[in-house]
Amino acid sequence: MATVSKSTTMKAQYQAWPYPAMPLLVSLPSTHPFELHVSWLWDRSGSGPSPARPRIWIAGCGTFQPYAFAVANPKADITATDLSEASLAIARRRCLVHGHRNVRFAGVDLDDESTWPDGQFDLIECYGVLMNVADPLATLRGLASRLTERGVLRLMVYPQWSRARVFQLQRLARLLGLHAGERSHPSALRTFVKRLDRAHPLRFAFTTYADSRNDAGVVDGFLHAGDRGFTGFQLGAMMAAAGLEPGHWFHRPWAQPDRMAERLGLQGRSQSLVLDQLDLWQELRGNFVVCARRVAAGARLIQQPTPHPQFTERGLGLRHSLRLARLQLLGGSLPTRTGDGKIVLRPRDARALVNGTPTERLLQQGLALGGDHASRLPAHSEFVGQDAFLAHIASLRTGRRAPNPLYAHMFAAFELAARHPELGLPDLETQMGRWLPWADPLEHRPFTFGLTPYGTYQRFRVNVQEHLARQDFGTAASYAEVRLRGDGEALARVRKALAAAGELPARLRSDAELRELFVLLFAHDSLFLTLD
Ligand SMILES: C[S@@+](CC[C@H](N)C(=O)[O-])C[C@H]1O[C@@H](n2cnc3c(N)ncnc32)[C@H](O)[C@@H]1O
Repeated sequence: MATVSKSTTMKAQYQAWPYPAMPLLVSLPSTHPFELHVSWLWDRSGSGPSPARPRIWIAGCGTFQPYAFAVANPKADITATDLSEASLAIARRRCLVHGHRNVRFAGVDLDDESTWPDGQFDLIECYGVLMNVADPLATLRGLASRLTERGVLRLMVYPQWSRARVFQLQRLARLLGLHAGERSHPSALRTFVKRLDRAHPLRFAFTTYADSRNDAGVVDGFLHAGDRGFTGFQLGAMMAAAGLEPGHWFHRPWAQPDRMAERLGLQGRSQSLVLDQLDLWQELRGNFVVCARRVAAGARLIQQPTPHPQFTERGLGLRHSLRLARLQLLGGSLPTRTGDGKIVLRPRDARALVNGTPTERLLQQGLALGGDHASRLPAHSEFVGQDAFLAHIASLRTGRRAPNPLYAHMFAAFELAARHPELGLPDLETQMGRWLPWADPLEHRPFTFGLTPYGTYQRFRVNVQEHLARQDFGTAASYAEVRLRGDGEALARVRKALAAAGELPARLRSDAELRELFVLLFAHDSLFLTLD
């Protein structure tokens, strides 16, 4: 049987569901994306002053990013590419409607370098795309080779553990027979999930996912045909193997790994380990976003305080001038992309900014360039046992009080601390104390186990410790090899729920599939299950 390539599958999906689904007339004020300006990204990444007319490549641009980058970089020469012609057509129209003419569009497959645009780029943006390609490392290496010497690659990939619930919802959708190839399936999934128990963690994950409100977002999140996540270690290793090093991170809640390391008692450890911990404990509210530069680019450059060009450059059009005038008169607020919330700009600060006299306050707010933003932590360290650990966590454990697979990602946090002394992590009790002041505020909601490992451990400390003291679990290759306690009743309950949900495609399901559905749908109030 001929195998379908990953890019064929991805192309079909994004042709049918261009992403993101944003009305054409949605507009960004000209100063809002100041953190997407090439000068800002070069400065933060230690690349020094950027060229006056930089070349930007948005690789896997979707329908909106070309516009956002054109707003942020009106003097740049932008190439926006995607596999989906439908997405490119929308992006092109959006730029035309808003009067941005510095973007060139082209159909490009990141799995096939012969289709890539020519030359080197000062900024490559690859946001939410690397998960979709067949060989992420090969693509990343190719992208790195297209950077100019001090060029910056801004990369977003999904975190393995923080996205666990999304992956579970993807599995649920597949078991229900829902997929991106059918127009009615996003809404069928929405209806099905909304019928789950109010305190069901999958329902919570679905409804709080911003994109779940529109069908293209549901496809991109939950009916995706080729998604994956990266652990902090995997991301670090992949960048290192591509000859890249992290220059600047965009994380919430604590942005740069040095701050997190300090709070978690992980000083001196590598950035990839610190990020792995933040993700593993599901305190990372978003995705991994990093600006990387070539290791070969050499020492970081530290600039003297310099005004942000977006606020000082003249000749950027009447609307931009009016906006600057308004900020100087009335002040205003600017959203950040680094998770620091909004910056409130007083009229006095706006005048200093526009007049090119960066004050200490503007520097602190990130509105001026300059200063030392380097991380003191080494970029990457290996976790030699990572593959075995990931396989162990994904495997189906059997016996009385086997960890509930719905909570496998939480057990990953407990087990990493307890069973991998070679990583030199603080023990669980110490870690718990350190999370306390910053742990997820969502934990106050009425979920049986909390929503993060922190909340779960707080409530079920003894049970978790008892579990960790046991090593003797058998494993099964699939749900076909196990039985749930009360198996017949459990399967009947799933059959009944499926029959009641009229929106699902008619489909014969094996007992193994029904068993897995039972775990995803009805076992959320048990931290442990009996799988015989
Ligand atoms: C999640 S969307 C992200 C879009 C955009 N970067 C954004 O952040 O809004 C993923 C995009 O990658 C594109 N894509 C997927 N596989 C690709 C490939 N092999 N080559 C080029 N683009 C690809 C899809 O068509 C889609 O537009």
